[in-house]
Amino acid sequence: MMKATAKAPANIGFIKYWGKRDEELRLPLNSSISITLSNCFTITTVKFSKNFKRGSFKIVGEETTKKEKERVLKHLDRIRKKAGINFKARVLSQNSFPKKAGIASSASGFAALTVAASKAAGLKLSQKELSILARQGSGSACRSIPDGFVEWKAGSKNENSYSQSLYPPTYWNLRDLVVVVKDPIKKVGSTAAMKLSLKNPYFKKRLQQLPKRIKKIKKALTKKDFALLGEMIEEDAVDFHAIIMTSKPPIFYWNKVTMDIIHKVIELREEGIVESYFTIDAGPNVHLICQAKDALSLKKEIQKIKGVQKIIVNKPASGAHLINQHLF
Ligand code: PMV
Repeated sequence: MMKATAKAPANIGFIKYWGKRDEELRLPLNSSISITLSNCFTITTVKFSKNFKRGSFKIVGEETTKKEKERVLKHLDRIRKKAGINFKARVLSQNSFPKKAGIASSASGFAALTVAASKAAGLKLSQKELSILARQGSGSACRSIPDGFVEWKAGSKNENSYSQSLYPPTYWNLRDLVVVVKDPIKKVGSTAAMKLSLKNPYFKKRLQQLPKRIKKIKKALTKKDFALLGEMIEEDAVDFHAIIMTSKPPIFYWNKVTMDIIHKVIELREEGIVESYFTIDAGPNVHLICQAKDALSLKKEIQKIKGVQKIIVNKPASGAHLINQHLF
């Protein structure tokens, strides 16, 4: 049967992927590091059939735009080409989080689509091949293929730009609290924002600093040095947003609630109440990295902030994999 279903986690960058050296292949200008997220995921079922007259793509409970449909179709074409088939496909996806929450669904979405569609098309791909393929759908999706703590080595061409697991999910008992804030829908997509950054003189500086930062974060992971890990995560997040804020025109992803959370996290840390560190993607939601023992008390403190809608507690998770329960 040409039908398969996959589950894939979203991921949060400790070192962000920002800027492409090749738009079409989605080759990045820098290597990046992330963890996969246990409670933010996408499940996707793909079926190819010679009897289908037209293809379809739907997300349960959500509207899909024409642009999103085209991007999915393009990805299916890559897979059809690899498998040597030309059947139409039915694709149904379900996110564990609402799209309007502003949690990037492109990473989990394209990772799940890649694994399900490859299997349904009869391809037998290695994890490396799946990561390379997922990357072409959405850059950050290549980091949702492997398990746990992940590194995406930038590479220089299609064949050597993919992600690998540095450590399994159980290696370090960390948590990522995704703090969903009021009005979280992002107004400028990452593809467009990345392009603007390339012209920003500060961007060159970022690329120069990254190898050293990556080295330090890897050392923090090896030694399980939480303070060093947190310092590097925040340094990279602030650096990344400084570039976005200084591009022309500037983009401000942070809102008032974002700032309130940042101040609170620093205050809790400095007063020795809870040690956690923040990072932020291309939107106003804040991710708080903490050790498992502190997750509950941190959640309680952050919930008190006005404008915080929801907090999703995540552990490092398994990467994208096939499951038996199909969505149709
Ligand atoms: O959604 P993409 O694949 O264009 O990547 C966005 C990258 C960030 O999420 C903003 C940073 C990162 O490394 O995850």
